[in-house]
Amino acid sequence: MARTGKYAIICFSGTGNTQFVSDELRKRLEDEGYFCNIYHADRIWASCGRGPGFRGDRNLAAYRMRDLTSDADSVILSFPTYASDVPDPIKSLIDLMPAGNGKSVSVVSTIGLIGGDACLIPIRTLERRGYRPVYAGYVRMPNNLKVPPLDIFRIRNGKDLDRFYDSAGEKIDKISRILMEGKPSFEGAGLGSVLIGLVQRSSNKLMAELFRRGLEASDTCVGCGLCVSTCPAGNITRTGKKPVFGKRCCHCLRCYNFCPVEAIQFTKRTKDAAKYPRYRGFADWKPPRLYSAARTD
Ligand SMILES: Cc1cc2nc3c(=O)[nH]c(=O)nc-3n(C[C@H](O)[C@H](O)[C@H](O)COP(=O)(O)O)c2cc1C
Ligand code: SF4
Ligand code: SF4
Repeated sequence: MARTGKYAIICFSGTGNTQFVSDELRKRLEDEGYFCNIYHADRIWASCGRGPGFRGDRNLAAYRMRDLTSDADSVILSFPTYASDVPDPIKSLIDLMPAGNGKSVSVVSTIGLIGGDACLIPIRTLERRGYRPVYAGYVRMPNNLKVPPLDIFRIRNGKDLDRFYDSAGEKIDKISRILMEGKPSFEGAGLGSVLIGLVQRSSNKLMAELFRRGLEASDTCVGCGLCVSTCPAGNITRTGKKPVFGKRCCHCLRCYNFCPVEAIQFTKRTKDAAKYPRYRGFADWKPPRLYSAARTD
């Protein structure tokens, strides 16, 4: 039976995992005859004036969200879970989404291990605004977080990532079937998940402070500007050769993991790259250049 319907996936991916999952989901939906577009939160914000030292225009972003979702029957939000919460580049776009008027909404979040009830946060918000929730759940992907003191989990790269192609693939198959059947299904609603979510989110201020104090460029920086032009929060500027970190980091670790010479540190301890290996991304992912890295001095 030929299927009709149009999906808009609004995706944020700090280090590539969620982009991989979103691309795979799109392929599954298109194979079944649906239209499906992916819009990346970092590029949406860049098109609304976000750049090094600039937050971007919220009115313009609200207009863009209306425009991008207006002819879709279903909206899917995809993002990595950070401490049982939703990353700011996508949370701030959710706040700007137009009224749902019965449009369906789903959430697909990637995690390293456990996400609490993070995937339900956008669902609760958007249900109140007239959207019809269909799915919320997680796809387990490689962990991208190993910075002091949050360094209990292993970083895997290269061949160690192979097993995720199968496990993530199976979960994406399942999600696409649920979406097409349209029968509501939600992870993260059990008491355990809700409690994990509450506990993890209570550390949000502390995490923001750790990132604000921890991130810095060491003397090995070669001034290539990659971190400046790819930071999704516009949080990195430079007046001299070395980048300077501002106060609105969204905690994605894109800069830290993808600096070509591992010059970005999270406190001095991460200079020991054997102890603090960087995550190199999934399926050869590279961070997109969002803006010019011109010096501002
Ligand atoms: C600041 C931060 C917090 C994280 N918190 C969690 C978490 O609470 N639970 C979890 O399972 N994974 C957590 N992770 C791991 C990521 O969610 C996971 O690796 C995700 O797939 C990364 O997606 P991306 O490559 O699209 O950015 C965290 C990662 C970061 C950078
Ligand atoms: S990506 Fe690394 S080398 Fe390039 S400017 Fe940033 S800190 Fe320096
Ligand atoms: S400063 Fe680094 S960790 Fe923070 S938002 Fe920018 S790229 Fe992500």
